[in-house]
Order: sequence, then structure tokens, then C-alpha cells
Amino acid sequence: MDILTYHIETFGCQMNVHDSEEIAGALNAIGLQPAKDLKSAQVIVFNTCCIRDTAEKKILGKIGDLKHLKQQSKDVIIAIVGCMMQQEGAAENLIKKFPFIDIILGNVNIDELAAKVEEILENKRIKRKSYISVLMHEKPEIVENRPVYRTSGTNAWVNIIYGCDNFCTYCIVPYVRGRERSRQPQTILQEVRGLIDEGYKEITLLGQNVNSYGSDRKDGYGFAELLEQIAKIDGKYRLRFMTSHPKDFNDKVIDIIAATPNFCNNIHLPLQAGSNKILAAMNRKYTRERYMEIIDKIRAKMPDCGITTDIMVGFPGETEEDFQDTMDLVRKVRYSNAFTFVYSPRTGTAAARMEQIPYSVKKDRITRLIALQNNISKELSDSYVGGVYEVLAEDAPRQNQLCGRTESGRLVTFEGSKDKIGSFLTIKITKAKASALWGEIENGK
Ligand code: 5AD
Ligand code: SF4
Repeated sequence: MDILTYHIETFGCQMNVHDSEEIAGALNAIGLQPAKDLKSAQVIVFNTCCIRDTAEKKILGKIGDLKHLKQQSKDVIIAIVGCMMQQEGAAENLIKKFPFIDIILGNVNIDELAAKVEEILENKRIKRKSYISVLMHEKPEIVENRPVYRTSGTNAWVNIIYGCDNFCTYCIVPYVRGRERSRQPQTILQEVRGLIDEGYKEITLLGQNVNSYGSDRKDGYGFAELLEQIAKIDGKYRLRFMTSHPKDFNDKVIDIIAATPNFCNNIHLPLQAGSNKILAAMNRKYTRERYMEIIDKIRAKMPDCGITTDIMVGFPGETEEDFQDTMDLVRKVRYSNAFTFVYSPRTGTAAARMEQIPYSVKKDRITRLIALQNNISKELSDSYVGGVYEVLAEDAPRQNQLCGRTESGRLVTFEGSKDKIGSFLTIKITKAKASALWGEIENGK
């Protein structure tokens, strides 16, 4: 019999990207293989996201597109899993709209997927019934030692904490990913060590709020302590982490990053809004002054640190003056890159019940914010031209072309052969455009 193949489509954040690596690991373990593309796969998995309405709409459209694939070949198994399914009533609504779906699982019980696929494959002749299982555990157990099928050759994602306790008033994540659960330090250290021994050149520690690592254990061993121990692992590799929450970001963490060469001078620190009134309404638990204090401390210890952020416009009650506070902070911080979003009400969150502001106002604000950030990104990119940087070659987008990142997180494209993927190269920057850089390998290194 031919080997059956699967295709996983991932939507949303890095957490989902890594969850999909675990789904792939589980499907490989039951004898399936990755398919060339969606159309040729016998098992199709959508790992969904519900952070904004735009994400949900896009996913629903793509699920609709699967209908004629299923009509052409009724043996195709369609599984919809992840955060979107974890919302109350979402699974039931989805199956009503798209009865051809075979399996629905939440992110909390994604582990059941491989077993369900096997069951369907074994009972082929029995009329298939959709399988819905979305557990609503607030604090599901951490499952260790799941097989992981990593898709990037150079970078490995490592979860350190699951879930989120912050309940920012706009955010659906605490409802769909449950309460904070930190992995044991020994397990994380062992995994990181193993990945470096395997040849991974970059490790990214993951969590919704990495800075609150360990706070659910209350034994005094927190994020700084974990970083300190990881920093002792020998070898030439890069360490990154995301996402940080300014309310828990402390000086010790800055000191460790500054003192440890393996830690990249690159920090993602979501601002969300620059107005104290809006920050309070968002339940972010920091002020613009405290945020700037952290930025100043980072810059004092690491002047060339690349700082990136997430910013939202159009939160309920945001006036033009509040928006100008955001613009003002963007000018002051000078982010190397900013992920900008239009606030999207999420059912069940506190902000969705507040009075909303018109879309036209949101649209106008995001346009102005993006224009400002593009100018800053361009100015900062220009300052790279002529400089020489260490770049980790990560990918070959075209024949004889490579791309990779500087330590500060800047993407650089340059000429080079595929066999250099995974190498640290010395690159001279020759050209900049918006946030993208081009360069050339110096002296063949
Ligand atoms: N609407 C728009 N953006 C949101 N984010 C989170 N929730 C929402 C929402 N309801 C953004 C935040 C967060 C990023 C991952 O997504 O900026 O940091
Ligand atoms: Fe959402 Fe806030 Fe938690 Fe981030 S910290 S996942 S924005 S609730």
C-alpha cells in the first residue's frame, strides 16, 4: 500500500507553528509522511488561530474551499484543530456550517489527533461520523516527550511556559490556552542541550509571557534563573525568546542578555498603546513611563539592540490624543520593526463589551502609524549600509541566493550556495529598502 501523506496548514503565532511541529511528529509516528501540497494529501490539518476577526475569516474561507476536495475524494480526512476551536460553541457551529469535517480538536487536546486519524483509517468502510473533542481544562497537564518534527533546519522552538494569566481586556488567548503552566527547568535545559548537540544554531524560547516563567511554581526559580542556566550551555548558537510582557520584564534579565554572547541583542517588547488611559483600560499593568524606563535600560546596556513591538490602534475609548501618545512613543523608541494591528473585538473578552469606535477611524489611525514606522524602519535600515555583521544563513529563497538574520533580528539577502545554510557568515550590507537588507559575503567567510 502506498504511504499515506498529510498536509498541515498553520495560522497564527509561533506557538501554533511549534504545535504543528508536534502534530507532524505524531502523524509521522503512525507512519504517515508530509505531502507535496494540500491537494495531494490524504490527511489535511488546519491548525487555527482566533486572535483577530481577520484570522478567523481567512480560515473559514479556506475551510469552505476544502468542500470540493472532499467531494472529489471522500476518503480525504479533514481535521480542524487549535485555538479557534477552543472558543465556546465554535466547534458545534463549525460542524453545522461544514459537515464534511471529520475531526475537530482544541489545542488543549491536540494529542488525540493521531489516534483519531488511525481510527478513521482502520474503519474505512464504516460511515464516518465527525469527531468533536474540545476539552475546556483551565489547567491541562503538560505532556512531555512528544515527538517533534521540526521544519526549520537552523532554528528550533522550545516552549517554556504554556497559557496566560494576564487577561489583557482585548485578548482571547487566556480563554483558549488556559492558565499559566511552566515546564520544569531540567526538562527545558535537557531539550535545549539536545537541540544544540543535534546541530541547531538558534533556539527560540516560547511563551505568551516568558517573563512570568516559574511564577506558577512559586519556588523563586523564574525566567532570569532559567536564562542564567541556559546561558551556560557551551557551543556557538543563538538564543532568542518571545514574547515578553513589560510588566514582568526585570533588570536581571537585561543584565544576563547583555553579559551572554549567545543571547541575541534583539528584544520583542509589545507596547500595545502609548496612552496611560488606554494601557489601564487594556489591563496591561504598566505605564508609558515604565515602558520607556525599560527601553532606556536595554539601550544603556546594549546600544545596538534591535527592539521590535506589537501595537494596536482603535481600542475602545481611544481618542486622537491617546493615539498621538502612541505615535509619540513610536518616535521615541525607534523600533526596528513593529507589528501593527487594528483592534478586533473578541466575544467573551471585557473590551468587546465596551463602546466600540468606528472602523473608518481605526483605518485612518493604522495608516498613519504604518507610515511613521515605515519611515523609522527605513532610516534604521539605511544606517546598516556599509556595516559588516554576522548573519546566520537560514534559508535559500532562490537558486544561489540565501537569507538570514543579524543578531539584532534584521533579515539580510545575499548571494551564496545552499550548503552554507546553518553557517554563521560575515556579511557586508550593500543595500537597504524599508526593513529589508541586502549584502554580500566578506572574503568568502
Ligand atoms: N485585536 C487586535 N490585535 C490583537 N492582539 C491581541 N488581541 C487582539 C485583538 N483583539 C495583538 C496584540 C498581541 C498580538 C499577538 O496580537 O498586539 O501582542
Ligand atoms: Fe493576550 Fe495579554 Fe496574555 Fe499576551 S499577555 S497572550 S496579549 S492576555
